[in-house]
Amino acid sequence: MERKMSEIANADKVKSLLGLIINPNNGKTLKEEGRIVEIVADQNELLFKYNRNGITPEQKRTIENSIGVAVSDYYSPEKITVLTVSDNSSDVFAGKKFTNIDDKKLPANDKAGPAQIKTGHGPTGATKKRVAGAKKVIAVSSNKGGVGKSTVAVNLAFALKNLGKKVGLLDADIYGPSMPMLLNKREAKPGATPEKKILPIDAYGIPFISFGLFINEKDPVIWRGPMLGGVLNQFLFDVAWENLDYLIIDLPPGTGDMQLSMVQATDIDGAIVVSTPQDIAVLDTRKGLNMFTQVKIPVLGMVENMSYFVPDDAPTKKYYIFGEGGVKKAAEELNVNLLAEIPLEIALREGSDNGYPYMNEKKYEGRPVWNAYMNLAKNVNQCFNEEDSNKESKGFFKRLFS
Ligand SMILES: Nc1ncnc2c1ncn2[C@@H]1O[C@H](COP(=O)(O)OP(=O)(O)OP(=O)(O)O)[C@@H](O)[C@H]1O
Ligand SMILES: [Mg+2]
Repeated sequence: MERKMSEIANADKVKSLLGLIINPNNGKTLKEEGRIVEIVADQNELLFKYNRNGITPEQKRTIENSIGVAVSDYYSPEKITVLTVSDNSSDVFAGKKFTNIDDKKLPANDKAGPAQIKTGHGPTGATKKRVAGAKKVIAVSSNKGGVGKSTVAVNLAFALKNLGKKVGLLDADIYGPSMPMLLNKREAKPGATPEKKILPIDAYGIPFISFGLFINEKDPVIWRGPMLGGVLNQFLFDVAWENLDYLIIDLPPGTGDMQLSMVQATDIDGAIVVSTPQDIAVLDTRKGLNMFTQVKIPVLGMVENMSYFVPDDAPTKKYYIFGEGGVKKAAEELNVNLLAEIPLEIALREGSDNGYPYMNEKKYEGRPVWNAYMNLAKNVNQCFNEEDSNKESKGFFKRLFS
């Protein structure tokens, strides 16, 4: 078939623009590094396939954003498909080793066959849908990656469970799903109910679902703008959540259009913004808070993570490694609550790396991190349950919902 001259010229222009995309790992272009596997730039759609060996989810996000920006004169986001191939499946997860997903290890309840993610377009319009099976839905967000958002989401879930609540977890971080690792369920494959609802995987009494559970390491990972909304939509509305007091969503870091499209279609009851003392830029945080205000989601408050370090051998000392009170100051300036200050602790990171969530290990009871998470859970709980709150906190949270 003969193509028009202008079309060919545009395809060449697009290819040269894509040749400038930089690997944030080392500042070289993907082209220079020989990572580009395929580019199909036709009139309607752009397909870009590259090798992501050694590229972290955070860097992958940067690359994909720059692809969108680079070709924005030619393609709208829904026309762009980015495929990645990788020799090393560990790249799919947040920098962790990954064992093969084995289809033979499907759970016994998988009579209706493994669940599949439907592709397709995300929700449009502003009608907010309630998640069936969950009384309250809480989104955990952050303005940037690597601040401990997933750690907070997971450990808040267990802290609420320690208060006697029934909690579910939803890993909506499509670029760097980390819950299968944090919960030691890398090999689990969600089954489906006879009604074709996705069955969440149980991890230490917490049902959870993650995009990572659907990734077969042999398959390239597909990213496509509007599909993201679609995937979250399916996770929220097609999962057989049952009798949850709380569903906690780990959102992808950042506050861009993608996060916005993820939250605007869902009736989310409250958002938590996680930051570290040194990563707090008031301007960025304000942008993040505006995102929630725009879609009428109340912000429960901020969580400062990695606030200080308490050495095991000097438990009365606090070392403010990243500076003291950074998030508190920002929260005051922005007139939002500070829900918790969570210290640094080696056992918290080790627990995450090994799939044993800290707040599920009773042996840590009474330690500073444990206490901080229990306080966070109580504060979150008080936001929603007047009867649980004491006089003081009633006033504290009132303005959030008035
Ligand atoms: N309070 C803490 N003490 C010690 N280590 C922590 C603490 N909070 C988080 N970490 C560690 O910091 C790293 C980053 O945390 P995490 O993966 O939760 O961040 P994230 O914001 O979800 O990152 P991403 O943007 O990649 O999704 C992990 O190794 C985690 O175990
Ligand atoms: Mg994360």
